[in-house]
Amino acid sequence: MSVISRIIGTGSFVPKKFVTNHDLELMVETSEEWITTRTGIRERRICVNESTSEIASKAGRAALEAAGVSPQEIDLVIVATVTPDMSFPSTACFVQSELGIKAGAAAFDVSAACSGFLFALDCADRYVKSGGFSKALVIGVDVFSRLIDWTDRATCVLFGDGAGAVVLSAETGARGILSSHVHSDGSHWNMLYARGHVETNPFEKEEPKEAHLVMQGNDTFKFAVRTMGAAITETLEASGLKTEDIALLIPHQANIRIINAMRERLKLEDDRVFTNIEKYGNTSAGSIPLAFDEAVREGRLKENDIVLFVAFGGGLTWASSAIRW
Ligand code: COA
Repeated sequence: MSVISRIIGTGSFVPKKFVTNHDLELMVETSEEWITTRTGIRERRICVNESTSEIASKAGRAALEAAGVSPQEIDLVIVATVTPDMSFPSTACFVQSELGIKAGAAAFDVSAACSGFLFALDCADRYVKSGGFSKALVIGVDVFSRLIDWTDRATCVLFGDGAGAVVLSAETGARGILSSHVHSDGSHWNMLYARGHVETNPFEKEEPKEAHLVMQGNDTFKFAVRTMGAAITETLEASGLKTEDIALLIPHQANIRIINAMRERLKLEDDRVFTNIEKYGNTSAGSIPLAFDEAVREGRLKENDIVLFVAFGGGLTWASSAIRW
């Protein structure tokens, strides 16, 4: 029988500090009303003296506990992030060390911005299905609060920090990842980017460049609606499913208007689309696994339900996957 990657546990973590729209009114020229109606976001969590690997590890530990799997059983750790603690080692190596995952397990990071978790899940699925790896920990995490310009009202209201994780197990039943698709178009890299650290060496004479996140909001909005719609169709077709089969759609939480546009296009009822953007904003790679963990813990899923994940992000990147829970 062929191997399927089943998600056997989920976990998530968000920092304690929350920042409301009213808090932001004191920092930039904005209003609670503008942010809520244009984005659906009411508050976001922000890391205070907490690193990316720390919050990733907490989400990972929760997923291991939910799965009833010990760190010694994990042979693959993939962390999706564009806000790693360091250039190297990878955040996955820090998580491996923090959680006591066995030495010799493979641990590495994946960079695909807000689509990162689905790229990491796709990667782990292929490792598991090709043999040699029986239990994988996949984490999506970002700390965008260190990447955004807190004086730029067009971007600082949109993002928050958070992490989510799943444990995959190599199994032979019908439940698990049914199909998974990842795409990129680097020609539009400048629609959404962040240089992060800007370093030069003594042989270069470069003007300092913008280190913070830069975004063309309107273009990104249109790109998101177009690609996520296409990605859902692709996944449904590849899995032999119809829109009616979707028990829960878990989209990347970037803007409630993007999610609503997609929902209307698919003619999905409200209760078949999971959203928690009002509480966390856009947590980039953390967004989908954080929403998924909440959905699982709220009892929104029953055995054999079809769940669809769909995301888009900087790169540009977009991705989708369908699972039988
Ligand atoms: N508070 C108040 N006004 C704001 C504001 C804020 N936080 N941010 C922007 N504005 C202003 C603009 O300056 C503009 O003013 P102007 O008309 O005087 O020039 C006005 O609001 C409308 O701006 P616009 O960019 O057209 O708004 P919008 O309805 O497109 O919403 C976004 C802006 C960013 C919310 C929306 O484009 C979006 O969500 N895009 C996708 C972003 C995204 O998902 N990024 C992450 C990808 S993973």
